[in-house]
Amino acid sequence: MIKKLVRKTCLGFEPYIAGKPVETIKRELGLKSVVKMASNENPLGASKKAVKAVKENIEKIFFYPDSNSFLLKQALSKRYRLPAGNIFTAAGGDEIIELIAKVFFNPEDEIVYSKHSFIRYGMAAKLMGSKAVVVPMREGFTHDPEAMAKACGQKTKAVFITNPNNPTGTYNTKAELAKFLKNLPENKFGVKPVVILDEAYFEYAKLEKDYPDGLDFLKSNPNLIVFRTFSKIYGLAGLRVGYGFSSEAIVDYIERTRPPFNVNLLAQAAAAAAIEDTEQVKKSQKLVKAEKAFLYKEFTKLKVPFLKSAANFILFNCAPLKGKEFFARMLKEGVITRSMDEYDLPDWVRMTVGLHRENVLFVKKLEKIIKK
Ligand SMILES: Cc1ncc(COP(=O)(O)O)c(C=O)c1O
Repeated sequence: MIKKLVRKTCLGFEPYIAGKPVETIKRELGLKSVVKMASNENPLGASKKAVKAVKENIEKIFFYPDSNSFLLKQALSKRYRLPAGNIFTAAGGDEIIELIAKVFFNPEDEIVYSKHSFIRYGMAAKLMGSKAVVVPMREGFTHDPEAMAKACGQKTKAVFITNPNNPTGTYNTKAELAKFLKNLPENKFGVKPVVILDEAYFEYAKLEKDYPDGLDFLKSNPNLIVFRTFSKIYGLAGLRVGYGFSSEAIVDYIERTRPPFNVNLLAQAAAAAAIEDTEQVKKSQKLVKAEKAFLYKEFTKLKVPFLKSAANFILFNCAPLKGKEFFARMLKEGVITRSMDEYDLPDWVRMTVGLHRENVLFVKKLEKIIKK
């Protein structure tokens, strides 16, 4: 039996349930029109500059990509005023999480993260056979940095902080983050654990009061890794490209571990162009801010409990329906949302903020479902 050959840590794995593509749902349900509000993509689409860069580079795809992502790192270095030696790139935040696990996690290690935070951290810990230490959230569904620092012990190798958090949309303030980093205890190796600050939704959250920019903490915290992605506000989810910042020593180990051609040629060109596209960022921030205000008003009118979000998605409570049932009913109406069972939130659903007409449609269908 092949099972006997599979690594023990992989035996208990369930496949990651991704938001289904629009075409799949159309085919499966025989629907003509489907709106995807499931995976926190940018409803305005990709940066035009990125699309132009893809077109300009399309004939070059017979070449391997630049293994070092030189031009993309230069663009990131210029944009964030950090040396290229402090920057690494990967095939999305997903690969970054896995690379960090491969570099740092041993089976005897403990990995600390918050309940109801991005599920890929737990999967990475499990993949390496490490122990996941899951810390309850505070009231209001935010990370509890004090409890997380307390949960760090002798065996703690790494701590994940998602800021803002997916799927709750909540965030921790600059003062909280500073205190957390300062209070983090040393482990049995006589060093502080690696702190991974996942800022996948940074560009949306930076509009919030007291939201911290993780890069400000890099100098004084050599064990800090901050990472972001081109999948969200830059609209390049389909190309798979993310980037991270850390001390030269950590970047060096990640560079040694990653597959040599992890960021493909078109992704590198598109991302380097997108990072220059400040107009796309501003337009997307403006849209999401205005549409969140519209959706909050509508949720309130319909008496549907929801969490205020610093990102481009909103988590709402669909009780007495279960999230899975709500998701299925919404799907039949042609709107793809995301139920939250795997986040241990069975009565909640996450929706991505769309274009105004998409949000109006969502509210119409929401009302129809809850009033039935
Ligand atoms: C909090 C968070 N981190 C990381 C990711 C990974 O994104 P990607 O692999 O597309 O860069 C996501 C995607 O949904 C996310 O929500």
